[in-house]
Amino acid sequence: MKALQIADDPKEKLKMVEMPMPSLSEGEVLIKLKAVALNRRDQWIREDKYPNIKPNTTLGSDGCGVVEKVQNEADNHWLGKTVIINPNIDWGTNSISQSPHYQILGMPTHGTFAEYIAVKADRLHLKPAHLTDEQAATLPLGGLTAYRAVFTFGGLQAGENVLISGVGGGVAMLAFQFALAAKANVYVTSGSKEKIEKALQAGAIGGANYKEVNWNKELHEKIKGLNLVVDSGGGKGFSDFIRMMKQAGRIVFYGATQGLPTTLDLYRMFFYQLRIQGSTMGNDQEFSQMLDFVSKQNIVPFVDSVRPFANIISAFDDMKAGNQFGKLVVSM
Ligand SMILES: NC(=O)c1ccc[n+]([C@@H]2O[C@H](COP(=O)([O-])OP(=O)(O)OC[C@H]3O[C@@H](n4cnc5c(N)ncnc54)[C@H](OP(=O)(O)O)[C@@H]3O)[C@@H](O)[C@H]2O)c1
Repeated sequence: MKALQIADDPKEKLKMVEMPMPSLSEGEVLIKLKAVALNRRDQWIREDKYPNIKPNTTLGSDGCGVVEKVQNEADNHWLGKTVIINPNIDWGTNSISQSPHYQILGMPTHGTFAEYIAVKADRLHLKPAHLTDEQAATLPLGGLTAYRAVFTFGGLQAGENVLISGVGGGVAMLAFQFALAAKANVYVTSGSKEKIEKALQAGAIGGANYKEVNWNKELHEKIKGLNLVVDSGGGKGFSDFIRMMKQAGRIVFYGATQGLPTTLDLYRMFFYQLRIQGSTMGNDQEFSQMLDFVSKQNIVPFVDSVRPFANIISAFDDMKAGNQFGKLVVSM
């Protein structure tokens, strides 16, 4: 079968290889993948900017496919079902944070960018019925991260003012869609005018370009106080959020693409009773809750584009360029 792996030759980076079909261990099932989706993590690994990279590992954390074989008879009911895969491996027993053994599918274990994958049966969930394989493939990593940030840590309630920064990103886009479905007043930032326009068309109340000087002042005048910010940019702009918050506001961040903030107004933070909360992925229960929420709310994730597996490397290039609105999907 074909698989996209991280090469051991640092110049080559990614390589399409022919490898044997996975053999099944105790409790595993074999899935023929139908669609997979990219995350920034895959590109970070390609750029050697991720911890514990193991060469010759198949990349990919997101996938939707059909169960073709099971190891245990007890899992026969999965045969022929279209499923998506929970990318958590060994989250552990503490619902708030992951165990020391925690891993994400697709490094250091073989991931979804292959024609077939073997995973534990307890990682499977039925594909939400209202979604195509391509739409469902966008959910696992990004949906889980967005769900924890918006609801578990963000505590978003209907009618609250929320800012989703960098709305063009894969996780941010799902956070945006979740916040809209939760009936919050949703504002966005983006480095692209076109992406802000698209977010406004999709239901955002207002938006600003974080590349413009004073973006935060203009947006703040309009909003008059945020209850929640969901961010993955970090960097200099992170400090700007603090001046935009209502009392007892929450800033939840799951990434720091722009590096560390240069200042942090601690005076304002304590006086306004503000919270800053880091967030990573989510536990298995949150994965189920996220899928239930998507199904009940009929959320259809934005797919930027779908391309064939043979062209998957071009999707990595697109992710690096950052022009996408929604997820980059590959049809297998
Ligand atoms: N902790 C976790 O569990 C977890 C999970 C998933 C991802 N992450 C991290 O979160 C980040 C985003 O991941 P992703 O997969 O969503 O990546 P992505 O699809 O490549 O999105 C990155 C987005 O960041 C936005 N951005 C760039 N500069 C920004 C700035 N100065 N301020 C605000 N936003 C900015 C861009 O939004 P515009 O295009 O709208 O300008 C871009 O689309 C990455 O750093 C990733 O490693 C962490």
